[in-house]
Amino acid sequence: MLFRSWAQVTDPGWPDVARVSDQVGGTHLVVTRHALVRQVLADPVSYRPDNALDAVTAMPVTALRVLAGHRFRLPPTLANNSGASHPRIRAIVADALHPARVAAQRQWLTGLVRDRVTRIGGTLDAGEPVDLHAELAADLPLLVLARLVDLPDASVGAVKEFARAALELFWAPLDADRQLALATEVGRFHRVLRDFAATGGGLAAELRAAGHPADVVVGALFFLLVAGQETTSQFLTLLLHRLAGEPAVRAGLRAGDVTVADVVEEGLRLEPPIVTWRRVAATESTLGGTAVPAGTSLVLWLGRAGRDPAVVEFPDEFRPGQRGSRRHLAFGAGAHRCVGDVLARMEATVVVAEAASLLDGVDVVRAPWCPDNLTFRMPDALVVRRSGAPADRA
Ligand code: HEM
Repeated sequence: MLFRSWAQVTDPGWPDVARVSDQVGGTHLVVTRHALVRQVLADPVSYRPDNALDAVTAMPVTALRVLAGHRFRLPPTLANNSGASHPRIRAIVADALHPARVAAQRQWLTGLVRDRVTRIGGTLDAGEPVDLHAELAADLPLLVLARLVDLPDASVGAVKEFARAALELFWAPLDADRQLALATEVGRFHRVLRDFAATGGGLAAELRAAGHPADVVVGALFFLLVAGQETTSQFLTLLLHRLAGEPAVRAGLRAGDVTVADVVEEGLRLEPPIVTWRRVAATESTLGGTAVPAGTSLVLWLGRAGRDPAVVEFPDEFRPGQRGSRRHLAFGAGAHRCVGDVLARMEATVVVAEAASLLDGVDVVRAPWCPDNLTFRMPDALVVRRSGAPADRA
């Protein structure tokens, strides 16, 4: 139940705070209401982020040995750092992702997306199916990130494979064989990051120059590559899928009655790629009337908080610009709030502006499938075909 909770996002049966068991018998408090999720995120003293990157399925010795062989470590760096170094590391990363630097990429990205949309439109016109995830969304965030932050010289495919393996290894319910295979994949690329951290330019050099140890540089790059670019690809696919089923919103975009920015915010509210995020209780407290002992794992249901009727007028309807639409918690809140939000929004606005028209007159022939995962949606494909095109070409 814990792992597919995102699929029950509209189920009215959930209490404000629910005690839920995971697949190995561990218990977590799932927090469902907007105000309570916010309360936790805003109080890093009572509710620490230390468990943000802990594997939700404890790793067997065999997998740990493989990771140790690659000298894999994830010390407190950004998302899982409640220490004094966090603001200093965060400031350097925030500089690399500064809104002015992000804005400077918009034109380049627009050209790239426009070219792809033209090509995809041609394929659809020929009656062929197109996977919009693979052909449009999957690699865009990584390509933009590589222009903002020097990254190791690795193929897009290798980085994407590593990032998805890491999301599965740390956030999915797994058996020991799968953990071993994923640890091998993650450990191998971690070694590439470690080498790059020692000599690379850009962000890596900035962090080194500020006196941060190699582990911190690796940790920062790891998080940007794993959570930063991969989540944004997922969001682009989820948003395109949602828009495919919202013809009135697309008509509003065409007519200029609906803004692209409002569509993106409503998309983040209803289709966040990160459905939950964790905190651990540092002290004993009470949350919405529920006692929270020190050490409790809190699963903050960001996806559900975005649909809280106390915040948004029509919680389950895609109505860009409606009251409360922008008050979602898709990027978290407080001291650890996502530092890539401006970048993710820029990418999504470019894709919606340039590609929404591709969804007119097409059918979704293969909706995204999302695996079991506590936190990340990880959609695998979004195949569309021009309505009326012969089915045997799908
Ligand atoms: C739609 C895309 C994205 C979503 C939904 C998202 C969501 C989140 C969430 C929920 C957190 C945890 C916030 C908290 O603990 O309060 C987070 C943290 C973070 N995100 Fe994002 N993110 C996205 C894209 C990006 C991008 C593009 C980057 C950078 C390339 C990025 C970099 C980070 C970093 C560095 C942190 C840790 C911040 C800290 O601990 O100080 N994210 N993000």
